[in-house]
Amino acid sequence: MVIIYRSNTGFTQEYAEMLGKAEHLTVLPAGEAEGKAGPGEPVFYMGPLTAGHIAGIDKAVKRYDVRGVCGVGMSPPSQQVLDTMSKANYVHGAPIFYLQGGWSPEKVDWFKRRMVSMVTKSTREALRGKGHRRTPAEEAQYQMLLKGGSFVAFENLRSIRIWLQSQG
Ligand SMILES: Cc1cc2nc3c(=O)[nH]c(=O)nc-3n(C[C@H](O)[C@H](O)[C@H](O)COP(=O)(O)O)c2cc1C
Repeated sequence: MVIIYRSNTGFTQEYAEMLGKAEHLTVLPAGEAEGKAGPGEPVFYMGPLTAGHIAGIDKAVKRYDVRGVCGVGMSPPSQQVLDTMSKANYVHGAPIFYLQGGWSPEKVDWFKRRMVSMVTKSTREALRGKGHRRTPAEEAQYQMLLKGGSFVAFENLRSIRIWLQSQG
């Protein structure tokens, strides 16, 4: 299995590299994978979520034998996030995973910042309204939405690692 990823602001890249190192797998950015990974190559594909879509997934499915998929977004992980993502990014026979990456407003153009700001407005307002009743997890999410931040952590890779190990 080869890990192929796309990353716009670096969070998916961090996860892909940590995962490759831990599982002794080759890690290739999608742009460099052509020529290095053959058409039928078994691939674990990782990409950032953009308006619910895992960037680059369609191309990866056309080119490789995608055995597993992972979307990296800014929302805290939950069953609902996973279900919504699974429906919008279905790949036949491939399990789908979700990882919380982060938000880097300074690395995206103003239009994308604006888009994200609009989409996250109600969440920010709800969290602001909670004031000092925000839990530590909610506080971390609130600060990330306001200023940017990273939730990348090696422990988050646990279920993906277990699945990869089961692939032999
Ligand atoms: C235009 C745009 C749309 C996004 N849409 C989503 C989304 O639908 N769901 C989500 O959880 N995160 C969304 N995000 C946040 C990114 O997925 C998140 O920052 C991710 O960690 C980026 O990964 P990367 O650093 O590998 O590019 C969006 C970001 C941008 C710029």
